[in-house]
Amino acid sequence: MSARGEGEKGSVAGKGALAARPEIREFRAYALAPPTGIAVRAKLDFNESPFDVPDELKEIVLSRLARRRWAHYPEFGAPRLTEAIAAVAGRRPEEVVVGNGSGELLLAAITVFAGNGGRLLLAPPTFSLYRQLAVLAGASLVEVPRGAPDFPVDEEGFLRAAEVPGTLPLVCSPNNPTGNVTSTEFLERLSAASGVVLADQAYVDFAEPGDDARPLLDRTENLIVFRTLSKAFSAAGFRIGYALAPAPVAAELRKAVLPFSVDAAAEELAVALLSNPGFSRRSVDTVREGRDRLAADLAALGAVVAPSRSNFLFFTIPGAAGSEIAAGLARRGVLVRELSAAAEGYLRVTVGTAEENGIFLEALKEAR
Ligand SMILES: Cc1ncc(COP(=O)(O)O)c(C=O)c1O
Repeated sequence: MSARGEGEKGSVAGKGALAARPEIREFRAYALAPPTGIAVRAKLDFNESPFDVPDELKEIVLSRLARRRWAHYPEFGAPRLTEAIAAVAGRRPEEVVVGNGSGELLLAAITVFAGNGGRLLLAPPTFSLYRQLAVLAGASLVEVPRGAPDFPVDEEGFLRAAEVPGTLPLVCSPNNPTGNVTSTEFLERLSAASGVVLADQAYVDFAEPGDDARPLLDRTENLIVFRTLSKAFSAAGFRIGYALAPAPVAAELRKAVLPFSVDAAAEELAVALLSNPGFSRRSVDTVREGRDRLAADLAALGAVVAPSRSNFLFFTIPGAAGSEIAAGLARRGVLVRELSAAAEGYLRVTVGTAEENGIFLEALKEAR
């Protein structure tokens, strides 16, 4: 029996040896087991970039890293990276909080603004990690669901829920796993109707310019926008995220981020990527073209595809079981996410290279 199971029996927990909070013991953690025994031909399950950082850029980062003193902590608060982000985002450094991936910053924000008994407001299906972060922070969940096939936020229902005191609304736009955006007009209304508002824009580089919530920072005092270098910047292996917020909000958020959470390697890579934006821009253009073509090809195969402005597609094949499709794809070396738990029969596929997209489509024809 697992340690968790023993804890639930109370024999160990009763003595205080396994005194995890009950809601933590009960929570089934976000776990992504790598598949075994499969020769992977197309890895389309994590919304990563199919384009790796170019070798020339890797060389620059490695040589800068080699010149640093590895025995020393990086500079407190990663000021060089903070300034680079501020310059790219058109904000002041006091409005930037950097972190070990945007996941860390989301946890910090939920802890600071809804921890210890606050309410985190979500519009599911949405990024599954949020639930875990709420449990860790000691926040309760309030959910206003989205509906198939387009999965828009129920704006009026969401606004009503956000108006309840002590509620922290979190909107993911473009939304993982559905791929669609929520308008910035709605985010602005939300900011006017509630306290702090979280906008997770991990995928906004793949969307349209008008979907970017950053301009709202000029007109609101309570919005936090989360961005990451894990997707459009091909840096998932190094864990770099940031939040943009008015300086007083950013100052509170910073208190919940551990010192030195962005390490020297992540900082060097992030600075290099931000000062060479051509690589990410070309990757994004290719992925956007591939996404639109893949959406049309999927629809031609009879799939119902949710509208996407991200680097992935959320789809279902009427009459087919999502788990069987995912298993059939995996047997053919294609990894996607099966998300029936979020929406019955749905799967999420990351847009890959043209070759990977072709491998996926061929495998799907055989597997469906
Ligand atoms: C919506 C969303 N937000 C945040 C993250 C976390 O990104 P990271 O911690 O790599 O910056 C992800 C990762 O998949 C995501 O899908």
